[in-house]
Amino acid sequence: GDYKDFGPLVGAIDQGTSSSRFLLFASKTAELLAFHQIEVESVYPKEGWVEQDPKEILSSVYHCMEQTLHSCKDLKINPADIKAVGITNQRETTVVWDKVTGEPLHNAIIWLDTRTKSTVDQFEANTPEKTREHVRALCGLPINTYFSAVKLKWLIDNVEAVKKAVEEDRCLFGTVDSWLIWNMTGGKKGGLHITDITNASRTMLLNLKTQSWDPYLCKFFSIPMSVLPTVKSSSEIYGKLVDGPLSGVPISGFCLGDQQAALVGQLCFNQGDAKNTYGTGCFLLYNTGQEVVLSQNGLLTTVAYKLGPDQPTVYALEGSVAITGAAVKWLRDNLNLISSASEIETLAAKVESSAGVYFVPAFSGLYAPYWQTDARGVIIGLTQFTNKAHIARATLEAVCFQTRELLDAMNMDCGIPLASLQVDGGMTVNNLLMQLQADILGISVVRPTMPETTALGAAMAAGMAKGVEVWTVHAEDKSQINTDIFEPAVDTHARDHHYARWKKAVQRTMKWEVD
Ligand code: G3P
Repeated sequence: GDYKDFGPLVGAIDQGTSSSRFLLFASKTAELLAFHQIEVESVYPKEGWVEQDPKEILSSVYHCMEQTLHSCKDLKINPADIKAVGITNQRETTVVWDKVTGEPLHNAIIWLDTRTKSTVDQFEANTPEKTREHVRALCGLPINTYFSAVKLKWLIDNVEAVKKAVEEDRCLFGTVDSWLIWNMTGGKKGGLHITDITNASRTMLLNLKTQSWDPYLCKFFSIPMSVLPTVKSSSEIYGKLVDGPLSGVPISGFCLGDQQAALVGQLCFNQGDAKNTYGTGCFLLYNTGQEVVLSQNGLLTTVAYKLGPDQPTVYALEGSVAITGAAVKWLRDNLNLISSASEIETLAAKVESSAGVYFVPAFSGLYAPYWQTDARGVIIGLTQFTNKAHIARATLEAVCFQTRELLDAMNMDCGIPLASLQVDGGMTVNNLLMQLQADILGISVVRPTMPETTALGAAMAAGMAKGVEVWTVHAEDKSQINTDIFEPAVDTHARDHHYARWKKAVQRTMKWEVD
């Protein structure tokens, strides 16, 4: 009666590190119709530890769904038009729970957490060549605190309840996608214990070529294969939601890790297409087609997507930076330099330069291209002249410099330098950041006017799944995306000088943490 006809709708759950969101898209126009977002609290029980409550993660998602559905009434959207829901999530974050009681056995260990530094050192020492590169040929990753296998190993070794549950065959492991799906499809009453291949490729346990859990890797990291979820493609009907506000709707394509979802959302379907997403961290993904390319320059090899059980697996090279948006949050919450994240733009714009201040936020060690778990953050170049605007500006520049390091590595690995950079993610609303990024890279930066590409990618994968089929996606549509373009406005000399000093500051962070 009173509803507008938007055609079939697809929902996307975007469970990121700092917040959960639920978004509703019209599949015909890719238009974002409604959404709700809630911040999720991280706790820091010890230096280097970062955790979240898995139950809070779940309830925040339900709450976002309820609120969005609630807003449908005013917007004249008919909830019955929702044909599928996709999930996209913070990757690597490790959850273990008891399949009999449904209760988490520990807080989720967030990807940023560095408690496994000594676990990593031990594994490295156990390799014949004494190198963290030992498993790269199989899983595409260096041995590092970032990935799930070491977090899971730490839980089994250090948490009595986990050890016991493993022995009694009650323990289930999953990344956040698995935890959500298991609960939403019935939990202890028959919930599906599955993950998608993109999330699986972030554990250090997936063989990139066979696309299944690798017996050697599981043995190497001492992970019992019985706790692992079944690996699925990123776009298929997994099951029906039986719990939560949308029960009855199929969950399809719960899709992709959030960074891979953004690649899909930006329609980077051709070999050589790349995007950089600015969230808690920064993640630059470069589509290498059906070829597994191993990096010579500190990048990761990861599954980009597999859009259906009988579709090809497409791979990507990934440059990951742990701390970008998180550094802005740190200025807000730990130093109280700003009262909201968006305030950083006005504060940083008060000065024309960072006046020689460099901030390397190596809070979780350094990720790509260094992979140094023992690095710690520095702010350097301080003088009596320095004020908080300089530090704010240095924080934005840190985001840009870290991206530059990823791009340099990517260009070296791929041989063909990127001519422009497609960007997305929450931080990209900051125009000053975008201009600084173009200045520091020396290439144009291209931002879609609809920045919710992560959720869009998840919705697309869900909507195109066999049996849903309300969304068709063409690589050619890319040219029709509306964008804002930022062009570099500084000369090469100034750019190179600035970057050389950044590199010097980075060196100061190394080997700081000692046991
Ligand atoms: O690998 C971690 C990544 O998936 C987290 O993304 O957007 O929550 O910072 P985000």
